[in-house]
Amino acid sequence: MEMEQPVINIGIMGVGNIGTGVARILLTERELLASRSGIRFNLKTVVDTDWERERGIDFTGVKIGTDVAEIINDPEIDIVIETIGGYEPAFTYVMQALASGKHIITANKALLATRGRELFSQARAHGVDILFEASVGGGIPVIMGLREGLVANRILGLYGIVNGTSNYILSRMHQDNMEFDEALREAQAKGFAEADPTLDINGVDAAHKLAILASLASGGLVDFKLIPVEGITGVTSLDINYAKSFGYVIKLLAICRFTGGKADLRVHPTLIPQEHLLAAVNNELNAVFITGDLVGNTMFYGPGAGQNPTASAVVSDIVDMARNLLARPRTMAGGEGFSGFSLNPEKDIPLLPLDEVTNRFYLRLYTLDQPGILAKISGVLGANKISISSVVQLETHGEKDFVPIVLLTHEAPEHALNKALTELREFAFIRPNILRLRLFHA
Ligand code: HSE
Repeated sequence: MEMEQPVINIGIMGVGNIGTGVARILLTERELLASRSGIRFNLKTVVDTDWERERGIDFTGVKIGTDVAEIINDPEIDIVIETIGGYEPAFTYVMQALASGKHIITANKALLATRGRELFSQARAHGVDILFEASVGGGIPVIMGLREGLVANRILGLYGIVNGTSNYILSRMHQDNMEFDEALREAQAKGFAEADPTLDINGVDAAHKLAILASLASGGLVDFKLIPVEGITGVTSLDINYAKSFGYVIKLLAICRFTGGKADLRVHPTLIPQEHLLAAVNNELNAVFITGDLVGNTMFYGPGAGQNPTASAVVSDIVDMARNLLARPRTMAGGEGFSGFSLNPEKDIPLLPLDEVTNRFYLRLYTLDQPGILAKISGVLGANKISISSVVQLETHGEKDFVPIVLLTHEAPEHALNKALTELREFAFIRPNILRLRLFHA
């Protein structure tokens, strides 16, 4: 006799690019998902404000609405997918859905990073879960990897290339000698960039994702606002080429290290040795390199954006959540429905101030080409106990005024480097637009 499969009802709020991808998988892969999970996933209701646009989906049997109340107030719906994106109204709707006992699945990294404490506290209070695999690394199962695959490990370090747009720009600059603006236009045309690409190139999108990864890695909640962030807008093709000549590739890296009970978190362009695995992650692809105390080094790699990869991650959360729901009593309130595998809003993770971090640095300065200038620069660095490991000044034929000098330093504290930069900027023979980058260290 065939066992009857349990049914899980799903509602989707926001049927844009990702929501459409999720709906398509749920409607066209019903049998595959049922055979793999033993559960029937029923897309009951989809809500969006704009139904003029063609989605290319046959929604027969699905209720189509324009008001999220049709999902939030439907007692038959177990799982709500938030694919609206942005801060509002997504935040309000998710809070309402949690309050009415719905489990939430979201791809919204900005919302999780900035309003995570309220969202996860609300989830706890109402005994429901929030899953968010698609919020970092698109289709890469890195959240699942951290939450389950590496659950026995203390995470010692995590290094992510988690913004496809920045990675695309830097890769094209590195491989094809392209200039920044042209590479950005290409990334936008290919659909990797956020609606406002500022968040991609200024590092904020990567910092959103870092806040989520670091919270999981630390078992608490990181305050996104405290993460130091530098984007890639200051990096020129000249820097890419100097880095290349020293044996490095420049990548926008989201960094999470733990020292002395504090988290060293930052996002900045980083010179990665060209033989490191992360240096081979090119174009729009993402990767997260994670070191666990038991497992050692691992790397999660793949497409970090796009409709199908992101929808693939959302559906993995649907199956995961449904399995979890069916494995325990179906309560929608009172805390019993909460599985404890989300972020912990009750534990603050203290951050190590950037000033106290030690790094190796890349400095690019434009100076007048006159006798004694190099000696003055090395004098400032030496007085601040910063040791130079390489220095290059190429002849720039025809350039009469300012010429580029590039220096690599040995390890030095950030506060010492900042002081040296302030002193260097006081010299009239140096242009104020000094670029400081950091070198990768595990
Ligand atoms: N704008 C993001 C990126 C999309 O470029 O990686 C995925 O979050």
